[in-house]
Amino acid sequence: MLQPLSSRIVIPIVVLVSLLCISCANDSPHDNTFVHCLGNHSEPSHPISAAIFTPKSPSFSSVLQAYIRNLRFNTSTTRKPFLIVAALHVSHVQAAIVCGKEHNLLMKIRSGGHDYEGVSYFAEQPFFLLDMFNLRSMEVDIDSETAWVQTGATLGEVYYRIAEKSKIHGFPAGVCPSVGVGGHISGGGYGNLMRKYGTSVDNVIDAQIVDAQGKVLNRRTMGEDLFWALKGGGGGSYGVVLAYKINLVRVPETVTVFQVERTLDQNATDIVYNWQHVAPSIENDLFIRLILEVVNGTQVATKTVRATFIALYLGDSKSLVSLMGERFPQLGLKQSDCKETSWLRSVFFWDVMDIATSLEVLLERQPQSLKYLKRKSDYVKKPISKEGWEGIWKKMIELEKASMYFNPYGGRMAEIPSTETAFPHRAGNLWKIQYKADWYEAGEDVAESYINSVRELHRYMTPFVSQNPRQAFMCYKDLDLGINHHGVYGYFEGSAYGVQYFHDNFKRLVETKTKVDPTNFFRTEQSIPVLSQVELVRMVTEKAFVSILFGLFAFNWIRTRK
Ligand SMILES: Cc1cc2nc3c(=O)[nH]c(=O)nc-3n(C[C@H](O)[C@H](O)[C@H](O)COP(=O)(O)OP(=O)(O)OC[C@H]3O[C@@H](n4cnc5c(N)ncnc54)[C@H](O)[C@@H]3O)c2cc1C
Ligand SMILES: *[C@@H]1O[C@H](CO)[C@@H](O)[C@H](O)[C@H]1NC(C)=O
Ligand SMILES: *[C@@H]1O[C@H](CO)[C@@H](O)[C@H](O)[C@H]1NC(C)=O
Ligand SMILES: *[C@@H]1O[C@H](CO)[C@@H](O)[C@H](O)[C@H]1NC(C)=O
Ligand SMILES: *[C@@H]1O[C@H](CO)[C@@H](O)[C@H](O)[C@H]1NC(C)=O
Repeated sequence: MLQPLSSRIVIPIVVLVSLLCISCANDSPHDNTFVHCLGNHSEPSHPISAAIFTPKSPSFSSVLQAYIRNLRFNTSTTRKPFLIVAALHVSHVQAAIVCGKEHNLLMKIRSGGHDYEGVSYFAEQPFFLLDMFNLRSMEVDIDSETAWVQTGATLGEVYYRIAEKSKIHGFPAGVCPSVGVGGHISGGGYGNLMRKYGTSVDNVIDAQIVDAQGKVLNRRTMGEDLFWALKGGGGGSYGVVLAYKINLVRVPETVTVFQVERTLDQNATDIVYNWQHVAPSIENDLFIRLILEVVNGTQVATKTVRATFIALYLGDSKSLVSLMGERFPQLGLKQSDCKETSWLRSVFFWDVMDIATSLEVLLERQPQSLKYLKRKSDYVKKPISKEGWEGIWKKMIELEKASMYFNPYGGRMAEIPSTETAFPHRAGNLWKIQYKADWYEAGEDVAESYINSVRELHRYMTPFVSQNPRQAFMCYKDLDLGINHHGVYGYFEGSAYGVQYFHDNFKRLVETKTKVDPTNFFRTEQSIPVLSQVELVRMVTEKAFVSILFGLFAFNWIRTRK
């Protein structure tokens, strides 16, 4: 028994020593052997030189800024990458990985750049950027109701290309068309078809990635653990996802949308109280998001809370009005509040654009407006009392700057087991909260006041939300939950945010990570950690200790029985 144990301790120590040596290796970005390496590893028919931008390239700044979606990370003091590879071909992705690893460099991966914390294009340490925006082709096959989508595509492109081929197909993903496929699907992105069809990852059937060895793998060659991890485990931990194969879902030719607003003097408390009982349990065809924000009251210099109910119904307005009259009469929905349109055009409605906008706008890549922002998330598992709501209104009005978006769960979400994909938030959730602040002025002080409002509202909501662990949504990245420095405590640091984002699935994510990327080449501030060598030693020692105690106990027990 002692023999195998000692080798189990020795091996991690050897690995530990070699790891320490790796971390003291140089990561000098000015060394152009890295650029030579990239050249050496790209195919002659697809020269990588056309994809490389250094700070000396005239278009370096415009390439970098093109996909910055949070102005907090566009300041003059924000660290910039020392090089950008805007891959034009899969061999460029392979070269970036092989050479990045060989030169012990930190690589950030960006698809649509919508990461709330700028994690895809910003780091405290020197890094280079692998930008995926050029790899965005899509093949739709209506016969098999599937499509292959490259990760540099945006959701707007996905919806547009599907609708080009069929008016009765769609895909259950996010409501903002400029969001990138790469980060969105990797994190378990969702949208207003969630109660009917689950999240994006529930409709992913294959994937193509480049792994830490630079090998191109698909579902069959990567194996089910890695494929499972790519469905909601968060981008940037396992490899570069090149493309996802998705299942298209059926939508009716005509859908109905509405947006109805009620302030506190228009019975908002009563209506919100009822919403929480209705929205998570009503028919799966109906998704009613609730937005709570502070607005001016009718009297001068007063504030009130406004509740906005925005909905998508997979059916016509007549049946919607009758369903709402029966199940949610408190809202008082009228036929005139409803708009019938196509599923594709409903995307504009949800993005607060004119529903008659030219469809080609979905292919554009500029967002409507750029802003500074902060987001946090929570899950609610039990209804809140009227007194609870009254307190929430008071707090919101006091803070003023933070709003909340509620997205109802239930329906299909409650049927899918929490271990089915790496995204764990399933049965038992009534709704998810997004805490939100947007602002348009530069400056540390302004930023701090908005960020603090969001944090304080999140703190105030503690008694009303999930506990032990308090849960959070990976796509709503929030560095307040913890940052990983990827040192010897990487596993501990990773558990802080990992358990909140993934709860019981975190363990399998770590095991998979340790298997497929043991040197932790793919890492971000909140990536899945490898099981650190120190931690391994501790666990093995603990096991050995328990075994010895048990052995002594057993030995003693046998002896006394004699
Ligand atoms: C305006 C706006 C609206 C949003 N609406 C929704 C919504 O309706 N529903 C929802 O669920 N979420 C929504 N989000 C959140 C969004 O889903 C996440 O921010 C998502 O990660 C964005 O994907 P991206 O490719 O644009 O991001 P990026 O910033 O490019 O990437 C995000 C993370 O994924 C990694 N990553 C990116 N591409 C790859 C790749 N190809 N391979 C491996 N790792 C990769 C990055 O390194 C980073 O860690 C919204 C965000 C914004 C800013
Ligand atoms: C590139 O390849 C050449 C020839 O194969 C080799 O001599 C050289 O060292 C390589 N350079 C780098 C930086 O890998
Ligand atoms: C980002 O900052 C640069 C200068 O620092 C500025 O020119 C550019 O307009 C900014 N981008 C946006 C979208 O504001
Ligand atoms: C608020 O509700 C009460 C009864 O529940 C009703 O009489 C009143 O008309 C409602 N007010 C508004 C503005 O809808
Ligand atoms: C709200 O009221 C303040 C003054 O109290 C005013 O400056 C502001 O413009 C108002 N906002 C809106 C959206 O009307």
